Amino acid sequence: MNNHYSFIGGFEGQWQVNRCEAVIGEPIEPVQKLNVVNAPASQLTQRGTWVLQGFTSNVRYAERHEIAQLRARQEGLNRPTSTCAALIPIKKSPEWWALSQDERRAIFEAQSHHTEIGLAYLPEIARQLHHSRDLGEPFDFLTWFEFAPEHTAAFDELLVKLRASEEWKYVEREIDIRLVKN
Ligand code: HEM
Repeated sequence: MNNHYSFIGGFEGQWQVNRCEAVIGEPIEPVQKLNVVNAPASQLTQRGTWVLQGFTSNVRYAERHEIAQLRARQEGLNRPTSTCAALIPIKKSPEWWALSQDERRAIFEAQSHHTEIGLAYLPEIARQLHHSRDLGEPFDFLTWFEFAPEHTAAFDELLVKLRASEEWKYVEREIDIRLVKN
């Protein structure tokens, strides 16, 4: 199974870029279109203005009861009604990565309630987490979300809550890229 994905920003692709905002840290070059390809960047023929890549993986923090709740509520990507998407690349600080796994989990859930907060927005928001850090990429994570236009306000509300959390004190770069299906 190929679990590598490339997000190609440029002049072609199935998603039109509506907004590209640096929430914190250095911005990226604005582009008109985004193409999502299920292949590593090394195998691409399309170049684009920039390419961000990541891979899907096993969970790191979610506990059994959370996995059960997520599976019961979440829906998959590519729903016909999900004509809106967000690509939010995130880089966390060296302080975060210097913590132990149990310290990170404590900040992520006990202090920040990331999963608990997020669960309230399922199944309207569909999500996929991509890991990039181990590929030597500029971001640690490429987070991807899909939803119907009428759930945009709910998604924005979710972002306000997460960005106010203890976990986000460790976010040193975040870009909020909003997309609409062509
Ligand atoms: C990780 C749930 C929304 C950014 C996770 C994990 C869960 C989760 C369960 C842990 C995965 C693991 O165990 O490895 C949710 C749910 C959401 C949501 C249910 C509701 C839609 C968001 C949003 C963002 C985001 C809106 C970004 C703005 C991240 C990041 C990680 C993560 C960066 C990786 C954290 C790390 O490993 O340090 N999410 N999330 N999530 N989520 Fe969310």
